[in-house]
Amino acid sequence: MSTATATQPESASPRFAIQTSMLDLWYGTFQALFKVNLSIKRGMITSLIGPSGCGKSTFLRSVNRINERLGYVRIEGTVNVFDKNIYDEDVELVQLRKQVGMVFQRPNPLPASIRENILYGYKLHTRSHLGSRSRQDEIVEEALTQVLLWDKVKDRLHVKATQLSLEEQQKLCIARLLPVQPQILLMDEPCSALDPKGTEAVEELIWELAGKYTILIVTHNMAQARRASEECIFMLMGKVVEHSATEQLFVTPRTKETADYIEGRYG
Ligand SMILES: Nc1ncnc2c1ncn2[C@@H]1O[C@H](COP(=O)(O)OP(=O)(O)OP(=O)(O)O)[C@@H](O)[C@H]1O
Ligand SMILES: [Mg+2]
Repeated sequence: MSTATATQPESASPRFAIQTSMLDLWYGTFQALFKVNLSIKRGMITSLIGPSGCGKSTFLRSVNRINERLGYVRIEGTVNVFDKNIYDEDVELVQLRKQVGMVFQRPNPLPASIRENILYGYKLHTRSHLGSRSRQDEIVEEALTQVLLWDKVKDRLHVKATQLSLEEQQKLCIARLLPVQPQILLMDEPCSALDPKGTEAVEELIWELAGKYTILIVTHNMAQARRASEECIFMLMGKVVEHSATEQLFVTPRTKETADYIEGRYG
């Protein structure tokens, strides 16, 4: 591949998937992130917690540059993805989005079949060289198997994705990222629209994907952060207050603010 990529060659295997340095972000004149310095380990699940409005989604969105769609967003500092600053001029957005996939609060499948949903992103990223029908079948099966959905949907791949349950739709939204082989998955409250059973199923899936991908997951659900992540970041008013091993953050938080939050004293 001769195109500029946002990452280093695989052989370099850096320790951190995402590293930010002095990251400030403004929406117009409103500053939403302040001097964020974070190093997120490769191959690990890290959760991001904090009260509403503290900048969790903003941070997540600055790791695949969707914030800039807004036009009035300004950033200072750096966001390295596998040691390459993704705000450098030579970074191609298409390439970056291939490496850094994102899952949103509400599942947002395309109004197309299950099969087409899986192949769409792949098609976009391979610039329509989809390969043979049997290769496509393989891609669909592989992606759906990884999200533990294959057995459930294999006989109805041509059904509209929107007919699936919310839980299945969210799994599909994760599955459709996989054929382009992202290295990082950003998940912004992926379980918030799901019932407890659906939440449990998607959490189980996140564990299945651990190790293969670096996962950064935003959640309001403390129990989920505790169960589903190895490291945890606590943010407050646009700043990182604490970043620790999850168990440590919950059992022996380093700051009073963290303790207050995990004990439910903030909104
Ligand atoms: N598109 C936008 N334009 C202007 N201000 C915004 C925009 N998006 C977020 N903000 C502001 O930036 C701050 C951080 O918002 P953000 O959505 O990142 O918080 P959050 O931690 O994800 O909150 P929640 O838990 O409610 O999802 C808030 O004050 C919010 O009002
Ligand atoms: Mg948010």
